[in-house]
Amino acid sequence: MRTDVAIIGAGPAGLLLAHLLAQDGIESIVVEARTKEYVAARIRAGILESASVDLLRSAGLGAGIEAEGDEHRGIYLQWPHERHHLDFVDLVGRSVWVYGQTQVQADLAAASDAAGRAVYYGASDAALHDLDSDRPYVTFTDSSGAAQRIDALAVAGCDGSFGPSRAAMPADRRESWERIYPFSWLGILADVAPSTDELIYAWHPDGFALHSMRSASVSRLYLQVPNGTDVNDWPDDQIWDALATRLGHGQNGWTLNSGPITEKSVLPMRSFVQSPMRYGRLFLAGDAAHTVPPTGAKGLNLAIADVALLAPALGALVHKNDAALAEAYSDTALRRVWRCEHFSWWMTSMLHTSGDPFDAQLQLSQLRWVTASAAGAAGLAENYAGLPIGF
Ligand code: FAD
Ligand code: PHB
Repeated sequence: MRTDVAIIGAGPAGLLLAHLLAQDGIESIVVEARTKEYVAARIRAGILESASVDLLRSAGLGAGIEAEGDEHRGIYLQWPHERHHLDFVDLVGRSVWVYGQTQVQADLAAASDAAGRAVYYGASDAALHDLDSDRPYVTFTDSSGAAQRIDALAVAGCDGSFGPSRAAMPADRRESWERIYPFSWLGILADVAPSTDELIYAWHPDGFALHSMRSASVSRLYLQVPNGTDVNDWPDDQIWDALATRLGHGQNGWTLNSGPITEKSVLPMRSFVQSPMRYGRLFLAGDAAHTVPPTGAKGLNLAIADVALLAPALGALVHKNDAALAEAYSDTALRRVWRCEHFSWWMTSMLHTSGDPFDAQLQLSQLRWVTASAAGAAGLAENYAGLPIGF
């Protein structure tokens, strides 16, 4: 097969890139290891920054957000006996939207199907070749077992943390940084109306808790747990009890509604960046180049921001053989990546307990400052609601 851009991975980065390229008259073929149903069902991020919403709307993908998204002015930050609202709209003039990654993924898959774009689901053995030439190619085995080859002008590595693209860059041409955190999140999805109008991020001596949501009838909640935790060691009642304690059930008349848990999983927390995000005609986007712990709600938004930069860079390369934007892509994208890496690390460090009493006092001091000082609150708000694409 021959196309303009071979895209590896049909997550949000890969499918959005295919969509933006098509709007610019550029062809692509997407190769995805998992089945379409598996990709559609993955439960992951829940918050879109205002720049992500603007980009999805301008790409004609805003109908679902209008119909089912929920615009939030800010978040609550709390610690025992205190809950404070940070109003991002008042502080920095931008809001965020509750709109799940499953919904973003469904909108992207529907647009891809409607346009009849080529997506090879269930592909194995994807491998990248001749990336330092101007005729790179990708090989894979399709779901029927047939060997396939895609010749392209560029390859986009949108294959997440475990795909082959990251390592396809020669080891002596890349650098990476990593931080593994000594805790994980136990996440649940529950068929119960949210007990809050906006997200609650809670510091508690027992560990962090987060109350998020997916709709008026579905709640998403998380608990800080030790690494290596087995979900089966956490019966549903124990999860609700821990959430009630950490989120402050009974304080100032607030109650946590519990309900049937429909999904439970443990996710480890990691910060990771690989640089540069380009080698020859290979461009990395999204989790293929970087991951963040979820406390800042940045993972999905960063994937969207990368692709918003990459699509015009590939457009100039394919249409005009102009490599200026392609050459700038990595540096431009990494500026925002490192900002979000810092913010995600900072939110994580402020809210997760380590058991060290000195750390706990520093965290409480930081929380008091962020909620009491307009400057402190504006810094958090500016980062959480998100910086403009291209920052
Ligand atoms: P992905 O969504 O990972 O997509 C990559 C795609 O590449 C996948 O479909 C994968 O199957 C495919 N692929 C992998 N290997 C190959 C291969 N060899 N060949 C072909 N295709 C391949 N972020 C938040 O902000 N909040 C959250 O609550 C949150 N929760 C998360 C929970 C989990 C379990 C995970 C893994 C991530 C979570 N994230 C969260 C991060 C967020 O979901 C990601 O940042 C986002 O999905 C990045 O999109 P992406 O398209 O770059 O990567
Ligand atoms: C979610 O709704 O899944 C979610 C929201 C905010 C975060 C992380 C996850 O910081």
